[in-house]
Amino acid sequence: MKIAFVGKGGSGKTTLSSLFIRHLAASRVPVIAVDADINQHLGAALGLDEAEAAALPAMGAQLPLIKDYLRGSNPRIPSSESMIKTTPPGEGSRLLRVGEDNPVYDACVRTVDLDGTAARLMATGPFTESDLGVACYHSKVGAVELCLNHLVDGREEYVVVDMTAGSDSFASGMFTRFDMTFLVAEPTRKGVAVYRQYKEYARDFGVPLKVVGNKVQGPEDLAFLREEAGDDLLVTVGHSDWVRAMEKGRPARFDQLEEVNRQALETLHHTADAAYGRRDWERYTRQMVHFHLKNAESWGNAKTGVDLAAQVDPAFVLSEGAATPQPA
Ligand SMILES: Nc1ncnc2c1ncn2[C@@H]1O[C@H](COP(=O)(O)OP(=O)(O)OP(=O)(O)O)[C@@H](O)[C@H]1O
Ligand SMILES: [Mg+2]
Repeated sequence: MKIAFVGKGGSGKTTLSSLFIRHLAASRVPVIAVDADINQHLGAALGLDEAEAAALPAMGAQLPLIKDYLRGSNPRIPSSESMIKTTPPGEGSRLLRVGEDNPVYDACVRTVDLDGTAARLMATGPFTESDLGVACYHSKVGAVELCLNHLVDGREEYVVVDMTAGSDSFASGMFTRFDMTFLVAEPTRKGVAVYRQYKEYARDFGVPLKVVGNKVQGPEDLAFLREEAGDDLLVTVGHSDWVRAMEKGRPARFDQLEEVNRQALETLHHTADAAYGRRDWERYTRQMVHFHLKNAESWGNAKTGVDLAAQVDPAFVLSEGAATPQPA
C-alpha cells in the first residue's frame, strides 16, 4: 500500500507520518518510510540523532543507479540517460517489492529501530536554495517517483511518503501514485486552502483523499474542519504531549502514546487497508503513461533529444503478478 502525507508547511505532515510509521512497525507490518519533503525531518521524527540523520544516503545522488537498475533489459529504454522521472516500466523492466532486498535499497535504505521493531527509511536528500528552482528539486523527488512507478506492493505492506503538496507533484503525476492520501490540515484558512486545491486535482484523477485535522483544540476547531472538509474529514488529532516530549529530546516509548492518538492511528490504518479493495492497476498504469507523455512533450523530449513516447510499452500493465523475479 502506498500512502502519502501532504499538507501545508508546518501542518504536521512529518509528525503524523512518523506516528503512522511507528504504528505500522508496532503492528509488525513491513514498512518503508520515504522522506520526500522539502524539510528533511522524517529521520529525526523517527528518533535518529542529528549525526545519524545527516548520514542518511540521498536518493537524489543515487539516480543513475536507480535508473540503471529499474530499466533492466527493457528494450524501449536502451540507456539510463533517456530515462526521466516519469518513464514507465515495461516488458524487461525490473520491479520493486516492499520486503525484498535489491541494489536500490542497498544504496538508499537505512533501517531505523523503533522500540525493538524496525522500519526502513529512504530520503531524497536535503534541498538547497537552488534546488527549489526547477530541475534539481524535481530530479531528487524524481528518484522517489521512479521507485513508486516500479513498485508492486501488496496488502499489509506499506510505503509511507512524507511529501509536499507542491505544484511539481501535480505536474509529474506523483499525486496519483497513492492508494490513499492523507491531507494534514490545521483548523485555519490556509490549512484548508491547501486541501481545496489538492481536492480539485484529486477529483479529476480519482485520487482517494482524506483530511486529517491536526492541532485541533476544541469543539470550534472541529466544527470549522467539519464545515470546510465535510465527509472528507476522517479524524482529528489534538496537541500531543508525547510528540512534545520527543521534540524536547526526551522521547517516551511508543506504547506510551496517548490513547486518543493511538485510536486516530488505528483509523488511518483501517482506512488505508480498506483502499486495497479499490485498487485498479490498469488505471494506475494508464495514469502513469498519461503523465509521462505530458512531461515528454513539455520538457522531456527537448531535454533528452529523443522521442520519449517510444518508451511506452502499450501491452504492459503493472500489477502484483507482473513481477518476474530477476537476478539483481
Ligand atoms: N499533534 C501535535 N502535537 C504536538 N506537537 C505537534 C503536533 N503536530 C505537530 N506538532 C509540532 O509542530 C511542528 C511542525 O510539525 P511537522 O514538522 O510535523 O510539520 P510539517 O508539516 O512536516 O512541517 P514542514 O512543512 O516544515 O515539513 C513540530 O514542531 C511538531 O513537533
Ligand atoms: Mg515536514
